[in-house]
Amino acid sequence: MSKYSELKKINVNTFSNMKRDGEKIACLTAYDYTSATMLDKAGVDLILVGDSLGMVVDGHESTIPVTIDEIIYHCKAVKRAAKRAYLVADMPFGSYHISDEQALSNCIRLIKETGFDAVKIEGGETKAPLVRKLIEAGIPVMGHIGLLPQMVNVMGGYKIQGRTGPEAMLKDAKALEEAGAFAIVIEGVVADIATTVSESISIPTIGIGAGVGCDGQVLVFHDVFGFFDDFVPKFVKQYADVKTIISEACAGYINDVKASRFPEDKHSF
Ligand code: KIV
Repeated sequence: MSKYSELKKINVNTFSNMKRDGEKIACLTAYDYTSATMLDKAGVDLILVGDSLGMVVDGHESTIPVTIDEIIYHCKAVKRAAKRAYLVADMPFGSYHISDEQALSNCIRLIKETGFDAVKIEGGETKAPLVRKLIEAGIPVMGHIGLLPQMVNVMGGYKIQGRTGPEAMLKDAKALEEAGAFAIVIEGVVADIATTVSESISIPTIGIGAGVGCDGQVLVFHDVFGFFDDFVPKFVKQYADVKTIISEACAGYINDVKASRFPEDKHSF
């Protein structure tokens, strides 16, 4: 049991302390009250309302269609649930790309309306000036480098990054650190490169598909608990098989209803 598991509420400084103490940071996504309640009670350190909700909740092919209103709706539900975890909201595609004014206005609206702790934006060195402005406005920022799902149409798919060496990634990570980001997600990056980046900066790195050398890990709720079996990315470890449990339970319910085995007397008034 670490001293961090006894913390009543995690704040923005907790993460650099965890990195200093060699305590790994456990993060997951959540999008609703019920799942966020379970994750928070289990002791997850950070809950991200990711724009991955566009794919795993709404069934889109990418995160591109997600709107700021949708993120805000899900953040409000998660906020009602979480007592201990640090809460980070993904800024969706188009909500921070037009101008710094647009980005500031959307981030301020999100923080005011949801009570979330911080925002996450995708991008490295080019986003550093914006990160600085958001922090000056009082909004903690989590960076996101490596594979950027909001750039899928430019990249022509989801491609593992860092195969040509650490230079570009180091530049991005250092620019975000200098701008004041409290942590950086490193997604879809060769493990050695992610380790080099993690060891070269003082703020924590949170890996997804980036190896064990990162200071913490994040996975998508539906991936980690096994809601899907048609496509399981290589970087995902499934800790449960919820799809089978729900499918079998649902078949049992249907059979009981059809056979008039449900409701029984004890379910009736
Ligand atoms: O949208 C998301 O869920 C994310 C994480 C997987 C890092 O950005």
